[in-house]
Amino acid sequence: MIELQRVSKNYDHLEQPVTALREIDLQVGRGEFVAIMGPSGSGKSTLLNLLSALDKPTSGRIVLAGADIGAMTDDAVTTFRREKIGLIFQFFNLLPTMTAVENVLLPVLLARRATEADRQKAVRLLEQVGLGHRLTHKPSAMSGGEMQRVAVARAFMTEPPILLADEPTGNLDSNSGTEVLRLLRRQAEEHGTTVVMVTHDANAARVGSRLIVIRDGRIQSDAPVATSAPSAQPAGQPPEQSSYAAPTA
Ligand SMILES: Nc1ncnc2c1ncn2[C@@H]1O[C@H](COP(=O)(O)OP(=O)(O)OP(=O)(O)O)[C@@H](O)[C@H]1O
Ligand SMILES: [Mg+2]
Repeated sequence: MIELQRVSKNYDHLEQPVTALREIDLQVGRGEFVAIMGPSGSGKSTLLNLLSALDKPTSGRIVLAGADIGAMTDDAVTTFRREKIGLIFQFFNLLPTMTAVENVLLPVLLARRATEADRQKAVRLLEQVGLGHRLTHKPSAMSGGEMQRVAVARAFMTEPPILLADEPTGNLDSNSGTEVLRLLRRQAEEHGTTVVMVTHDANAARVGSRLIVIRDGRIQSDAPVATSAPSAQPAGQPPEQSSYAAPTA
């Protein structure tokens, strides 16, 4: 689903060029949930920007969902990103003037008029993330955890094969964070979505099926995660509050 071949990224910043990624080789399959950790400045966000096709590598090849990104026009990349990639950010990135339902509908609205079926789907997604009672709330009237769950619902709206998240729990308390992680994991397990998540939180990283550590623009380690996480909740059940990240005695 994701393939990187000798991907490097340099930034030409004033007189101080930075090599943010150095010849990264990486393959991520369908339904994998990859957590990426590494020190500040190691290149994690740079990597996510390349995976989301928001930025281009200085050298190397990136193939996403079978498409060679470097060979596409900018317009084609924009359409590709809208259809194939879901994005979740640390600061939620919701539009303040829009309700929860409208924010979830946004990826559709960018492409065409929303149908009644789209609207029903947005409502269903909000119900699935436990926000059926907040449909007409605007971001300013929601908690951080609620806003991030709206962002998660939005990322699922187009059923993208690839979901990218940069510190999705960075601004959440541990219960809200656990809930968001549970939603991402369920999406990978039940829908085969490929999830790549950057996190500073070792407990959050353990929810993934694979952990990659980046240091100084290189992959330092890449290994499966032995998880003891509980299986996903049946649909319609209230979110479980106990944490994947429960300390192991
Ligand atoms: N637009 C830019 N112009 C110049 N240098 C940049 C730019 N963006 C990032 N860098 C540099 O590239 C390196 C990698 O940055 P990146 O944002 O990928 O780090 P990160 O691993 O996400 O760090 P953090 O954990 O702090 O978010 C850093 O040294 C940073 O200073
Ligand atoms: Mg970053």
